[in-house]
Amino acid sequence: MALGLLAPKSEWMVKPKHILLIIGGGIAAYKSSELIRLIRKSGMTVRCVLTESGAQFVTPMTLAALSENEVHTTLWSLKDEAEMGHIQLSREADLVVICPATANLLAKMAGGIADDLATTLLLATDTRVMAVPAMNVRMWQHAATQRNIAQLEADGIIVMQPDEGAMACGEFGPGRLPEPEAVMAEISALMGSSSLAVQESGLGRNPLDGQPAFAPDRHRPLRGKHVLITAGPTHEPIDPVRYIANRSSGRQGFAIAAAAADAGAQVTLIAGPVHLATPTGVTRVDVETALEMEKAVHDALPADIAIMVAAVADWRADSQSGQKIKKKGAAPAPLKLTENPDILAGLARHPQRPGLLIGFAAETQKIAEHAQAKLAKKGCDWIVANDVSGDVMGGANNSVQIVTATGSEIWEQLPKPEVARRLIAKISEEIS
Ligand code: C5P
Repeated sequence: MALGLLAPKSEWMVKPKHILLIIGGGIAAYKSSELIRLIRKSGMTVRCVLTESGAQFVTPMTLAALSENEVHTTLWSLKDEAEMGHIQLSREADLVVICPATANLLAKMAGGIADDLATTLLLATDTRVMAVPAMNVRMWQHAATQRNIAQLEADGIIVMQPDEGAMACGEFGPGRLPEPEAVMAEISALMGSSSLAVQESGLGRNPLDGQPAFAPDRHRPLRGKHVLITAGPTHEPIDPVRYIANRSSGRQGFAIAAAAADAGAQVTLIAGPVHLATPTGVTRVDVETALEMEKAVHDALPADIAIMVAAVADWRADSQSGQKIKKKGAAPAPLKLTENPDILAGLARHPQRPGLLIGFAAETQKIAEHAQAKLAKKGCDWIVANDVSGDVMGGANNSVQIVTATGSEIWEQLPKPEVARRLIAKISEEIS
């Protein structure tokens, strides 16, 4: 074996993911010690930045001992500026986690204030940021805090929901820091599980051996792009208890939203009535009817990319009864229908038409032929056609054909999250 040709060990080992942990000033700061332990246990490395008020609750010594890294507390350290400036500090990280994120820290971030080390590097970073808020229930519910959270989410910051329960201050409600295990689960989800798998396999053999290390931005090819996605069915009311609907579960659209957020995009997900959790880092707008969905889509513009996955009801009841329609003998009440607007076709004609506009087409026969026709009819750039003759609607898998003006490609049947990842990879390639 030509051992001499092997790359040095440092080149073929996968670098562990690195977390920059900012610890704000609140009683929940003590839980950051446990979070550091969990991050280390998972195989990731961590470096801490402690705010001045955070230092009232935990000491740099504790954090340094647990992280086995120097703890950074001030913007004005000549040694750090020379050896590791605040920009470098945030950019060497794969993820910046603020835990606990106080109301004050969140407000400063939302306002773009940079008056200490933590806020300066948060303004300077190009790395994904996740905030884990913890504060008194009234502070959490205050309009100013909620406004700041909405702003931060719109800016692409991932904000975890605080837990509800008894607080150190004696009050009860939302605002508690989630348990460190829950924060760790979120970090692992954002980082992917490969570093965990390697660490916990105990095999001492890395399944990614030989793979080149990825440049950080290869992971976030959609950074700075706004991706607008519709998903799920629409419900068109007939009377207060009945509606017209279809079998769409929303799973494919939600998976695409998750994959787009994972690729660094700012994602707006307009969701019809579905029972699905909002993917991390996604701004969700819930709607019920096609008309509401159309308005939400227009309100969310401008967007760089729009992916219209929703199974919008083609028709709605011409008029909606305010009262439950009663049975009248044998003959059913006639139901007069009106056509819904075609949201996708409308977006194609809109003055703020997204640069890349993608429609979905649920077909049961002559899939490619119908998709080609739809491409022209709707005025979009790609049609993702899926064969819904099986259990695709509501099912876990999907087999699709991507039809564009220049040709089409068929993908074998895949789990919906995998279809989503491939679609986002294809989009990233298209716009790069
Ligand atoms: O015409 P058809 O329903 O097959 O078109 C499917 C595509 O058009 C999907 O992308 C769907 O989200 C979109 N659509 C729409 N508004 C409608 C009907 C469909 O945006 N009223």
